Amino acid sequence: MTVPAQVAFQASAPSPAPVRVIAVASGKGGVGKTSVSVNLAMALCNAGQRTLLLDTDLGLANIDVMLGLSPRFTLADVFAGRCELRDTLLEGPRGLWVVPAASGKRHMTELLPQQHVGLVHAFSQLDVPLDVMVVDNAAGIADGVLTFCQAAQDVIVVVCDEPASVTDAYALIKVLSRERGITRVQVLANQVQHTGEGRQLFDKLERVTSKFLDVTLSYLGAIPRDEWLRRAVQRQEAVVDAFPSAPASVAFRDIARRASQWQSPPGPRGHVEFFMERLIAPTGASARSAA
Ligand SMILES: Nc1ncnc2c1ncn2[C@@H]1O[C@H](COP(=O)(O)OP(=O)(O)OP(=O)(O)O)[C@@H](O)[C@H]1O
Ligand SMILES: [Mg+2]
Repeated sequence: MTVPAQVAFQASAPSPAPVRVIAVASGKGGVGKTSVSVNLAMALCNAGQRTLLLDTDLGLANIDVMLGLSPRFTLADVFAGRCELRDTLLEGPRGLWVVPAASGKRHMTELLPQQHVGLVHAFSQLDVPLDVMVVDNAAGIADGVLTFCQAAQDVIVVVCDEPASVTDAYALIKVLSRERGITRVQVLANQVQHTGEGRQLFDKLERVTSKFLDVTLSYLGAIPRDEWLRRAVQRQEAVVDAFPSAPASVAFRDIARRASQWQSPPGPRGHVEFFMERLIAPTGASARSAA
């Protein structure tokens, strides 16, 4: 990994306003995290927010495929020392910034501490002014997923109407709450087939979390199961761009509008540098939250 302190330091002023970091996770695979991340990021971007979409799924990366981008370098190349982080930055559709991952590579948690540090420096040197960063996570509850969620200000947990989705979402929320000290989670129902289904899924999850966990769930809304979204995936475009009046697009714009209104938590959280710094201190943070 190239440590950016060794390269010519760019005299870029740090971004004055905090960057809002939103992590998207689910526990179960295939429920729609990447579709949500891509369309939420695109909708925020279309609404005038300077947005970066970060793919952290080093095992099964696919944001670049979903958006029809051809990355020359990915995060995996940064870790292998073949390039610097700024070389991975792609300008996607309508000015959306994308940092792609790479399929079949090592997991974030397998990286050495000095590589983590290098990544922190690399992110803090990215001289791209940002308002929002959307972080797409891998499935499961591996350490890397928990750490990215812990480092973000807001966590969106995506669920759909399958028993395994709800139990896996609960398992994820449980470890986030008990091991990583997360106290609030936004729940987004995906692929709903009728009005009311999303709220029912939320209520199911809420009943059990309020009984056993010290975490506040908020209902962010629902995205319908939408054939237009599948067609957009085939076209390698975000549905909000390819088919703006499709039901899923309308729902994504609504979610983006609500996400833009979230209040920033007090304190220094929010800078990308801070986000990255939190990524390298999961053990201390877990120890604190477990105490
Ligand atoms: N609202 C929706 N309507 C119709 N199809 C959808 C919807 N959301 C997701 N899909 C489809 O479901 C499939 C899985 O979606 P996606 O890749 O976003 O899930 P994921 O949670 O990121 O998966 P993984 O866990 O493998 O990363 C995709 O083929 C996508 O087109
Ligand atoms: Mg995915």
